[in-house]
Amino acid sequence: MPSFDRTTMHATAAHPATSAATTPATSSAASPGVDPSTPSSADTDTFRALIRSLPAGFQWGSATSAAQIEGAAREDGKGESIWDRFCARPGAIKDGSDIDVACDHYRRYPQDVKLMQWLGLDAYRFSFAWPRVQPLGRGAWNEAGFAFYDRLIDTLLEAGIQPNATLYHWDLPQALDESIGGLLSREVVPLFADYAAEIARRFGDRLATIATLNEPWCSATLGYETAQFAPGHRNRAEATQVSHHLLMMHGAAIQAMRAVGGQARLGIVLNHTPSFPADPLSEADRRAARIDDGTNVRWYMDPVFRGQYPADIVEYLGADAPLIEVGDLALIQQPLDFLGVNFYTRSVLDGRQAMVKPPGELGFTDMGWEIYPQALTQHLLRISREYTPPPIVITENGMANADRVVDGRVADPARIAYLRGHLEAVAQAVALGADVRGYFYWSLLDNFEWNSGYEKRFGLFHVDYATQQRLAKDSAHWYRDMIAAFKAPR
Ligand code: FCB
Repeated sequence: MPSFDRTTMHATAAHPATSAATTPATSSAASPGVDPSTPSSADTDTFRALIRSLPAGFQWGSATSAAQIEGAAREDGKGESIWDRFCARPGAIKDGSDIDVACDHYRRYPQDVKLMQWLGLDAYRFSFAWPRVQPLGRGAWNEAGFAFYDRLIDTLLEAGIQPNATLYHWDLPQALDESIGGLLSREVVPLFADYAAEIARRFGDRLATIATLNEPWCSATLGYETAQFAPGHRNRAEATQVSHHLLMMHGAAIQAMRAVGGQARLGIVLNHTPSFPADPLSEADRRAARIDDGTNVRWYMDPVFRGQYPADIVEYLGADAPLIEVGDLALIQQPLDFLGVNFYTRSVLDGRQAMVKPPGELGFTDMGWEIYPQALTQHLLRISREYTPPPIVITENGMANADRVVDGRVADPARIAYLRGHLEAVAQAVALGADVRGYFYWSLLDNFEWNSGYEKRFGLFHVDYATQQRLAKDSAHWYRDMIAAFKAPR
């Protein structure tokens, strides 16, 4: 994400209805809004050849997270999360919405799995809501919550889709915020490890992968420094302390899950927004880009893969650097089976450490994020060279677009161009030696885009929040055709 402003464009769309609806989601796996005439003609032979050059077994997926799609916020014993609480804070969410219903995926997951099957997905990335399975974040487990994930995972497996889970995609049990101070307290570390071990015990043999955290930078910086995300604090020293606790949670969870055993491959998902100087000839701009890279990429990659924080950033943070105890860094540096990279855009900085509007030759998304796929190729090659990481998976990539349904169709050529450009960038990185094993489009469905509410649409499927109807956008057709072409006999 661009460092200090996740949404650089202000939302303008109308307040979406979020009430539960009885209209069923599109039910046929064969035709969720299929218009057979939808063209994929934007593809050149070169593009198709490049995609087909990806290794056999390359995984095609799509991603979501619990708080953004499940709804059923207070059902079957689910505990409150910090996002349930944050939504109630006046002004916190741009359209004043909440996550009580979201995409009603808690009830509609069978139809949603059918949409994945129609796309031809190999894999689906979702997250467990910790407060659904352990309402207070410690103590009693909620069997009804586990039963939901049990059904979801079995439905995916029956559909031939590999379940890829994340343990923490930002929805901390609110009770932990109140009882121990949430992520500000070291006490959260063993509690998270207990939760991780329980998930591994129950699901470790059916999950393909388990990622500990999604984008700890966002949890720490947007949650504790800029107040854009739950729990909405504004204090840099708190943010860096939280980042350290998150990294410890990651290490402790990996240890705990390894002790349980199971077949799932274990890793972490980091958001990488490569930093560029506004003027490459300006030393001040280059320094700003280096610091931005340090706080966003190296602050997480260095401890996870090298067991140390970057010295220049510790110095830059000064008195706001976190308190670290003996053994913490050894805990953080665990052997991993994969690295998840979420990539959306790049940041361009000037010498005052401020983000400047980049040229945007390929345009900007509805979030105001520049479309700049070439940074993905460069970045994958750079991290491969500098860190020798385990196999990489692109665990998120996608764009918000001001989609409209017109005559039963969503024409989103901009999203097709985005997808195409980024797949090309991934394939080029692979051709140049990066070990990338899969790609997950963000997101399967339009959903709750955090502090932007429902106004930003990232989905391959359009969601009508008044009826909960799902409709395949043109980009869904394109992705489906691309996956089919990849898998066609050669
Ligand atoms: C990422 C988040 C994901 C979604 C996308 C647009 O930072 O992991 O939940 O909000 O951005």
